[in-house]
Amino acid sequence: MKKLAVALDFDHPTQALDLVTKLSGIKLAVDASYCPLVFKIGLELFIQGGAPFVRDLKQSGHEIFLDLKLHDIPQTVQRSLARIGVLGVDYTTVHLSAGVNALHLSESFRTEFPQLKILGVSVLTSFSSDEWATISAGRLIEPTVHDWVRHIAIPAGLHGVVCSPHELNGLRPIFPGILVTPGIRWDTATPDDQKRTLTPVQAFQQGSDMIVIGRPITQSADPVGTVLNLYSTLKATYV
Ligand code: C5P
Repeated sequence: MKKLAVALDFDHPTQALDLVTKLSGIKLAVDASYCPLVFKIGLELFIQGGAPFVRDLKQSGHEIFLDLKLHDIPQTVQRSLARIGVLGVDYTTVHLSAGVNALHLSESFRTEFPQLKILGVSVLTSFSSDEWATISAGRLIEPTVHDWVRHIAIPAGLHGVVCSPHELNGLRPIFPGILVTPGIRWDTATPDDQKRTLTPVQAFQQGSDMIVIGRPITQSADPVGTVLNLYSTLKATYV
């Protein structure tokens, strides 16, 4: 099933809850069951609202994606993932560059937190290939997103990977898990700071399981109308 994650990139929890309340009505207005809404809490909002805000948001009845992009020594990553599991969220993120030891999911972890899907972040979608080459400078062989997925995400047993929509074609054949794509724009000519964008329909057609959209919804003058428009476009394509 395809999913639409709305990135609640606000600096205050009340703004985020206001949007969640408005968007929750969409479930009643249209048949959105073919592409349910997921709400994504990023670092900015988590720093403000913390665990109580995550629990409040859980009450909306939607799946929650806590996007903290963990990157630390194995013990800290594993213990933090367990704390995130206790919060009852459905998706969270880790940097693949933390390595297999930090990211390997034990059977006991999976049994304790069956609802939590852990997604590996490879290369941020805001990087252009020139920026990525600069960051990788000094390495003899620059790792590709393929390498990250083959050598870290798959051996660690991660449930999914966050990638640029431009990487979908290459990753879909080698990775059976959840492919999550930010870098989505209605019009790929106005990308903000995202460098490698596709439209929602293009991303789903190329194998994305969950598209992540922030500013095109949160900064729209009419976020509900914007999401309804998106649903009618998706419906015309998929239903
Ligand atoms: O506003 P926009 O649609 O660009 O928001 C994209 C969201 O996806 C942001 O919350 C950003 O943190 C997140 N994200 C991303 N690239 C990644 C991982 C997450 O843009 N590789």
